[in-house]
Amino acid sequence: MKKRLVVLISGSGSNLQALIDACNSKALNAEIVAVFSNKADAYGLLRAQQAGIPALALSPAEFSSRDDFDAALQAQIDEYQPDLLILAGYMRILTPAFVRHYHGRMLNIHPSLLPKYPGLHTHRKALENGDAEHGTSVHFVTEELDGGPVILQARIAVLPDDTEDTLTARIQQEEHRIYPQVVNWFVQGRLALKEDGIYLDGKLYFHNTL
Ligand code: GAR
Repeated sequence: MKKRLVVLISGSGSNLQALIDACNSKALNAEIVAVFSNKADAYGLLRAQQAGIPALALSPAEFSSRDDFDAALQAQIDEYQPDLLILAGYMRILTPAFVRHYHGRMLNIHPSLLPKYPGLHTHRKALENGDAEHGTSVHFVTEELDGGPVILQARIAVLPDDTEDTLTARIQQEEHRIYPQVVNWFVQGRLALKEDGIYLDGKLYFHNTL
């Protein structure tokens, strides 16, 4: 049986597209069974529709609290019985109850070399600080924002004439490579989050940077 993936987005969905392409090319033996967005106009919803995947939008404005929104989102996601929940540019803070519910089966990609630069504007911060290197990280989601254990990172050199836009473009190329790879490890049953850390192929694992 193919593993079932649900993807949460808020925007363009280029990482979602990389996952759709990996499923289509059989590089990833999994099925994206639904895509949810907190923004009805997210371009990624069109990408999902074009791929024949149920694409659903849930508007926070229609809920009286963050708890209510996340509870409704969780209920709708669970109708699709996902093995793995994938955050791909999902730009909303999650409630602790939601995070606990998907403990060990929720991944995020964050555009920095975590633990550097959690939060927003990571490319700007790398430029302002004159960093020689920048990157992106795939991690398990825990209650600490952008603080869960890192699984895989990709690193790029910051060039003298880089701008936020050029950095974003090069970082996203790396994201489209490493996110499907980590998802593949998970769906193959090679990757697990346990109490003492991440396990890959049954061995305690410290993250790698490519
Ligand atoms: C990605 O670069 C991802 O790392 C970032 O949003 C972008 C979404 O692009 N995520 C975060 O900043 C989460 N804190 P996409 O919609 O084209 O995949």
